[in-house]
Amino acid sequence: MINNQYWAMSSHPEGMPKKDNFKLVNEILEEPQFGQVLIKTLFLTLDPYMRGRMRPGPSYAPGLKKDEIMTGEIVGIVEISNSTKIPIGSFVRARSGWTKYSVKSDSEVIILDHSSSRISTYLGVLGMPGLTAYHGLLEIGQPKAGETLVVSAASGAVGALVGQIGKINGCRIIGTVGNEVKAKYITEELGFDYAINYKKENIEEKIKDFCENGIDIYFDNVGGEITDVVLNNLAYKARVIVCGQISQYNAIKTPIGPRNLWSLIRTQSKIEGMLVSEYGDKKNQVALKRISKWILEGKVKYKEDIIEGFQNAPDAFQKLFTGENFGKLLIKVDDI
Ligand SMILES: NC(=O)c1ccc[n+]([C@@H]2O[C@H](COP(=O)([O-])OP(=O)(O)OC[C@H]3O[C@@H](n4cnc5c(N)ncnc54)[C@H](OP(=O)(O)O)[C@@H]3O)[C@@H](O)[C@H]2O)c1
Repeated sequence: MINNQYWAMSSHPEGMPKKDNFKLVNEILEEPQFGQVLIKTLFLTLDPYMRGRMRPGPSYAPGLKKDEIMTGEIVGIVEISNSTKIPIGSFVRARSGWTKYSVKSDSEVIILDHSSSRISTYLGVLGMPGLTAYHGLLEIGQPKAGETLVVSAASGAVGALVGQIGKINGCRIIGTVGNEVKAKYITEELGFDYAINYKKENIEEKIKDFCENGIDIYFDNVGGEITDVVLNNLAYKARVIVCGQISQYNAIKTPIGPRNLWSLIRTQSKIEGMLVSEYGDKKNQVALKRISKWILEGKVKYKEDIIEGFQNAPDAFQKLFTGENFGKLLIKVDDI
């Protein structure tokens, strides 16, 4: 018997999620049965999509019910094993939710190589956000040398990698960010050509300055005003990847729009929504190999924003929507 704690959603948020939309639950976990393992969580990922799961009503995945454990992936270490496939001490990733411990079947667990990479990266640059950037840009964006690529939320887990893969492919990269520190980071450390601080600068003016010949690829992580401006400035045969709409996730009423789709006719451009879960294991393996190689070669850098302490998960989650996170947002739950 193992004493455990997990965070559940206690009520559906209205607008920005608040601490009282969550509750900490104590439970006793049963020992793992045959084919199962007990995992101690080391890192828990906080991702914008979790806000969508907290919303009642239809989406691409079922929403959370009241008092259900908060959804999400963790990386952890196997403390008890009743599986012939996963030895004690293995580092693993699993969809365990916001929990300190979990019992999982070995088929639900992925064993991770801890010798070559930091364990936390399997939730970021070598995890779901990394694959999102890779597949979204390369499969849908089809970047070509000399093209102009705009990416929003450019210093974040997905956006930072999109810009760097764009650079590897010879594109000119413009990133939108919410403050000067992030602007400096993407231009001086990640090699973006320009940054636009959308909270301070005139987005329209800056886009016109930096994208004289129009935007060939837009990797949209945020929606809203930035997307309106970009759509009005597309180049001929542009590609728009709709990856996220974080500016709308806390909206109480569904916003009207977009209203400027005429620009897609004028430029004969394409707009396509993406879901990272649709790419499959074979493509993911290729993607992870290439991203790992780029990291080793120094062509890709990544940043993690690690908050210590399981108890801080609900407060930390808000940072995604205020822009206070800087890099892949993670909770460090325990030491090895
Ligand atoms: N389709 C898929 O399969 C898929 C998979 C993964 C992620 N996504 C989406 O990709 C996007 C980025 O995710 P991530 O994990 O990389 O998060 P992230 O960029 O690390 O963090 C979220 C960032 O969004 C920006 N933001 C928050 N509210 C905003 C607003 N109102 N207007 C403009 N920017 C705002 C903030 O940066 P600033 O300080 O720069 O504003 C914040 O730091 C999200 O929309 C997410 O839902 C989609």
